[in-house]
Parts: sequence; structure tokens; C-alpha cells
Amino acid sequence: MISCLSLSSYSFCEKIALKKYRRCVKWGCIKRPQVVSGAKKDGFGLRVFVLSDLHTDYPENMAWVRSLSTKRHDKDVLLVAGDVAEMYDNFILTMSLLKERFDYVFFVPGNHDLWCRWETEDFDSLEKLNKLLDACKQLGVETNPAVIDGLGIIPLFSWYHESFDREDDIVGIRIPSLDMACKDFHACKWPGNLSNRDSSLALYFDSMNEKNQNTVKRIQSTCSQIITFSHFVPRQELCPEKRMLFYPNLPKIIGSDWLEDRIRSIHGVESSSFACHVFGHTHFCWDAVVDGIRYVQAPLAYPRERKRRMNGGTLSISQMSDAATNRSFVRVSDQEMASCAWFRCNRSKSDSSLQVCNGLTRTEILRACSHNEHVLEAWDV
Ligand SMILES: [Fe+2]
Repeated sequence: MISCLSLSSYSFCEKIALKKYRRCVKWGCIKRPQVVSGAKKDGFGLRVFVLSDLHTDYPENMAWVRSLSTKRHDKDVLLVAGDVAEMYDNFILTMSLLKERFDYVFFVPGNHDLWCRWETEDFDSLEKLNKLLDACKQLGVETNPAVIDGLGIIPLFSWYHESFDREDDIVGIRIPSLDMACKDFHACKWPGNLSNRDSSLALYFDSMNEKNQNTVKRIQSTCSQIITFSHFVPRQELCPEKRMLFYPNLPKIIGSDWLEDRIRSIHGVESSSFACHVFGHTHFCWDAVVDGIRYVQAPLAYPRERKRRMNGGTLSISQMSDAATNRSFVRVSDQEMASCAWFRCNRSKSDSSLQVCNGLTRTEILRACSHNEHVLEAWDV
């Protein structure tokens, strides 16, 4: 779950092709990534560990952080790519524990870090962001660009926007709305004209990086190796295709084009001996090169996700209701990235309406739903 990047001898056979990338983006073309081998185990020099989506509001995840060695990483760097905890107190505890274990800890905020629904104090998400950044400063956790042993490390603020999604939508099935699927729409509180429903948040967070431009330029001129990192996703190729997703509209709430532009402006246009960007948010483990930059995600993720991944997958079921349409849905999945289906609850239909759907057999669906009082009708089979 925690990933170590080898800095000593990694090199790319591909050159960065910015012009090509921009042309592809303009035309809506999506290029799937080249998967690369993991970090070299015999690397020497500075060790950089990366981690995202700790979600330590779950006691199991907080216990995992506590279980990290207090001695093994005293000369190491840790990049925390957002979603540490929803509760402010859990955030402080987690970052304190990490700072006790790693010599250098860097952080960028994720969406869950800015949720306000359970906080005792009355503040909005931007006020909470400032509180988190102040707390990091007091704990010695870095949130600004810095150079460690000649390695440039650049945290990048970001947020997602719906127009980041350029893949054709899945048609023929009913998919729950973004409001229903994404708690950010209810758990974040934004002041003024900022909203999850347009590009305003993506632009606002991207502009927060401007204050560091002079430091970034200095790092570019003095460091041959640079790692950038963000919570959100810079390219849609870093997410599985929609037909493979548990929630096919996921690409609408994960990434930012401005983030990728900023990453390209830092890592250079033509070539780089080392160009790496670390991200989080989707909870998919990732390590791939796209247009000359290595992109890495190493999420701790939710306890239930780890359990599903480690036992090979069991059918799970959960129920949600969409206030906007006054409908109920049940979702059934076998693994995080494998077969899944959405169902509309319908008490009046007989179970004979169930059919094979998205690779799940009728028996599998019935078994998964046996504890549910509703009889289900498949959306589209
Ligand atoms: Fe997230």
C-alpha cells in the first residue's frame, strides 16, 4: 500500500511529447498508459515513499499508521497525496504519527480532508483548508515546494471538474447522478461563487499554486530530479475505462486539465532523465508512464476495499437513494474494478425479472441479494 520510488537509476526510453499530448487532448483522444516495472529494491541514496487516501477515520487505517516503524524511515521522505481524514482531530493525529516516523513529510489536501459535516466548529471548506495548512506548519509537515538532497519536491493544489471527462458516456443503462454518488456535493461547504458543479473549484485550487512559482523556477534551474504530487488525477488515462468502472461517471469527479498543464510546465517539454507525478483519489494502485512522465498512485484505501482485493473478490451489495429523483438503487459488485451493476429497487416485480448482467449470473446476483428485502430488477440487460 505504501510505495517506495527508486531515485538512483530510473530512466525513461520515451521523451516527453507535449505538442502531441496537447493535440490529443484537443481532439478528445485518450491514450492508454505503458505499465512500468516497480521500484528497484537495491536502490541507494534518498528514499521517497508515497501514500494517498489514508482515511484514518477508520480505526483499522489509523492502526496501520501506528504500526509503521518509528526507526526504519528516520532518513526517508513521505509524500501524502491527500484524503488523510475527514475529522480534523484524526488529521492532526495521523500527521503527527507520520512525522514521528519519517524525517520529511509532504502533504496536499484531498476532498475528504475538506469535508465539514461532522466538525464541531462552524467553518467552511476553505477555512478548514487554512486550518489544515496551519497545523501542518506547526507539525513540521511541508506543504510548499522544497529541495531534499538535490531532489525537488513540488506539492500541487487541485480540484476536479466535470469537463475533464472526454470518454463517451455509457448509454443504455441508468446511472445515478453525481449528487447521489459523490458526497463532496453535500459534505463540502464552499463560500462565494465556488461550486462543485462547474470549473470554479478546479481553477481556484490551481491558482493557489501561483504563489510558489518563484520557488518552482528555482527548483527547475537547480534540480535534475523533480517529483510533483497532487490528490486529484491529471489525465483520464490514469483511470480505467468507463465500462470497467463500478461507477461509470467516475471520470467526471476525479481530475483536472489545469493540473496536467501545470505538471507539464514543471517537468519540461522535450526530455527529462527523471519526471514523476504522484496522485491519489481513485483508490486504484497505479504505476505507468504516459508521454514521458511516470505517474504513481499508492492508496491505503478503505478497509472494505483492501479486504475485497485480498480475498479475490466477493459479491457485495449496498443501497442508496437519490433524493432528486426519489428512486432507490442497489449496487452489486464483485471486485473494485471488475463486474458490477446498478439495480433499481422494485418490490412489485418477481425475481424472474433478474437476468445475466455485466458478467454476473442470476445465481450470483440472487446470492448477493439474499439478505435484502427488495426484489430487484436489472436496469438494462
Ligand atoms: Fe479523494
